[in-house]
Amino acid sequence: MHRRLRLGVNIDHVATIRNARGGHFPDPLRAAMLAVEAGADGITAHLREDRRHISDADISKIRQAIPVPLNLEMAATEEMLAIALHHRPHAACIVPEKREERTTEGGLDAARGHNHLKPFVAALGRAGIRVSLFVEPDLRQLDAAVSLGAPVVELHTGAYCDAEDGRRERELERIREAAAHAEKVGLECHAGHGLTYETVKPIAAIPAIVELNIGHFLVGEAIFVGLAESIRGMRALMDEGRAGR
Ligand code: PXP
Repeated sequence: MHRRLRLGVNIDHVATIRNARGGHFPDPLRAAMLAVEAGADGITAHLREDRRHISDADISKIRQAIPVPLNLEMAATEEMLAIALHHRPHAACIVPEKREERTTEGGLDAARGHNHLKPFVAALGRAGIRVSLFVEPDLRQLDAAVSLGAPVVELHTGAYCDAEDGRRERELERIREAAAHAEKVGLECHAGHGLTYETVKPIAAIPAIVELNIGHFLVGEAIFVGLAESIRGMRALMDEGRAGR
């Protein structure tokens, strides 16, 4: 019996397109509602310090309207903590954030950042928000997540997705080992970043992983086939990967 793998659809880049022209179109909330209809188990959105895509108003509207859990990606800053405590999303995924990066380029250094992260993990947890830490597939980072008291980790799949064919298997092996270790030390294990139709199945096949968060590819593919169809295609590949097909 395979555990069901959840799909969190990240709608950040619907907001990127909207913000290219200002105004209200396309609306990330409409995308979130459509994603749910198409089979998303949750909606993920990253409120960045510079508000380059998702806005405060988007978070507010999405939080109130969607019938599935919201996973708020956030940097460990006082401003973001206050916003999370105000909206109380189902989950908060703490990510590293640098203003000059194009996207979240690496995982959190949960080991070296212990003292900085500890109060954020504690405050979110006290508010009933399920905290996850976005980390590289590195066993030390998972042990650090345990010592911080975070119940969930999200493994960064970017290096695996970006790797040339020769290196990809090695990167996949790192993710397999990290996921197995996460399960062993009692962490719920998620994964995401850069996943596409081409790269998702081997990740979906890893039994310890229970949730994938996917955005950029789905929004890009939506240009050609529509958002619902791009999500249904991903869901089908996830199910095939999990079933070992
Ligand atoms: N998970 C985390 C923690 C992320 O920061 C992102 C990117 O916002 C994703 C998943 C989704 O990555 P992508 O948009 O490349 O699918």
